[in-house]
Amino acid sequence: MKILVVGTGYVGLVTAACFAQMGHYVTALDSNVSKIKMLNEGYLPFYEPFLLEMLKKNKEQERLLFTSTYKTHETFDIAFIATGTPCKASGECDITSVRKALSSIIEHHKYRLPIAIKSTVPVGTNKALTQWLKTEIKQSDLYPILSNPEFLKEGSAIDDCMKPSRIILGINKESDALMMRKLYASFTVNSERILVMDPSSAELVKYASNAMLATRISFMNEMAEVCEKTGANIHLIRKGMGLDERIGSHFLYAGIGYGGSCFPKDLTSLAYLAKSKGVPMPILHAVEQTNVRSKHLFLNKITTYFEKAKLATNITLAIWGLSFKPGTDDIRCAPSVFIIQELLNLGYNLRLYDPEAMDSMKKVFAPSQQVTYCASEYDAALDAHGICLLTEWKQFRSVNFAKLCKKLKNFSFFDARNQYVAASMKKLGFTYYSVGIAATSSSPISMEEKQSIAPV
Ligand SMILES: NC(=O)c1ccc[n+]([C@@H]2O[C@H](COP(=O)([O-])OP(=O)(O)OC[C@H]3O[C@@H](n4cnc5c(N)ncnc54)[C@H](O)[C@@H]3O)[C@@H](O)[C@H]2O)c1
Repeated sequence: MKILVVGTGYVGLVTAACFAQMGHYVTALDSNVSKIKMLNEGYLPFYEPFLLEMLKKNKEQERLLFTSTYKTHETFDIAFIATGTPCKASGECDITSVRKALSSIIEHHKYRLPIAIKSTVPVGTNKALTQWLKTEIKQSDLYPILSNPEFLKEGSAIDDCMKPSRIILGINKESDALMMRKLYASFTVNSERILVMDPSSAELVKYASNAMLATRISFMNEMAEVCEKTGANIHLIRKGMGLDERIGSHFLYAGIGYGGSCFPKDLTSLAYLAKSKGVPMPILHAVEQTNVRSKHLFLNKITTYFEKAKLATNITLAIWGLSFKPGTDDIRCAPSVFIIQELLNLGYNLRLYDPEAMDSMKKVFAPSQQVTYCASEYDAALDAHGICLLTEWKQFRSVNFAKLCKKLKNFSFFDARNQYVAASMKKLGFTYYSVGIAATSSSPISMEEKQSIAPV
């Protein structure tokens, strides 16, 4: 098939690459000219594992091209819209980019062209856009709007797209459903995972899924707080709960709350939509409140420790991990942004390290006297009074603690992702704070002893 994908962000670019990989001919279009220039020069505008290789290969084999202009002589079998849908200040989902992309597509393609919306849009968007086509251009039959929400996860986007958990299709016309089933058949050869439904339900599946996942995170963070107050251990609670098949073991990790480009805005949009329909959704509001509270609780652990340690001035802290989760350079709504801002306000000096997200973070916090970007996790620890792990990149799991301890001035560790064993950290001489496990203080041992301790 010949496919047009409008918007080359995380979703659009991955979609374009995967369709091309499956043998389709794909044009990926973005209004951001410099992004397209980068792509044509062989660079990725963001980090996503394996994406660059896939784009290069398919471009070389002439199944994929990048452009910022529509060409009227070109015809496609289907167009996808994957532009951003941020929240307005009111909480309402802003679908301006989707509308603009739709207008551009119909302006340049005067033949029957199904247009599938991959962007996350509020329930009713498909209906409203179809109605708009009917009244404004009187040709809604030429451009059937299909709802096809995307469920890929940054960091494993290629895998998610090539082996999707489900393909949700909101389609009214049987022939369009058939065409989409055919398009997606190669992605679901092993098992049937295509669900065709009405567009409003398809739109809501996306919001409901994200809201449920966020709910699990906030719930576990509340449980973690109970653990800290009672001496229970969140790891054991998670394992004990996860063995119940009705609950399952996924998404039960305590931490400093969710972030990223989807959960926060999608929950806000869903709350806005529900309110506009007179549905109160108190659970959703509690999820959001707990998410904010989780970040404050973690910050509090850091500041209270340093107040008690009487190191209240000129504190240097190493920050490990900046992206909102491992495997991406995306820092949109990342908890790290909140933690860093608060610590800077309190006068801390911060030494930041992330394997992929430092360029993104430099746009938010420019290097300064207070903010140093470091070459490695060890470099970040140089003369620091403590380490704060905010993103669970795999490389942090196998730290050489003997090497690390030689760099540090003071042995405090604030682990927002529960990456280490508390008892081992105590043995190493760290005062160790995690989430959902009571803090462990080190027994006083000499610096020499600390530096000779073997890795955890
Ligand atoms: N990022 C994710 O993990 C993820 C997962 C599932 C769903 N989604 C949803 O998919 C949508 C896209 O998300 P994203 O993270 O890829 O966004 P993004 O911000 O990374 O990319 C959007 C792209 O669209 C381009 N664009 C905007 N208006 C345009 C127009 N009129 N014409 C052409 N290009 C235009 C922008 O220049 C940008 O490159 C959002 O609705 C999001 O909620 C995102």
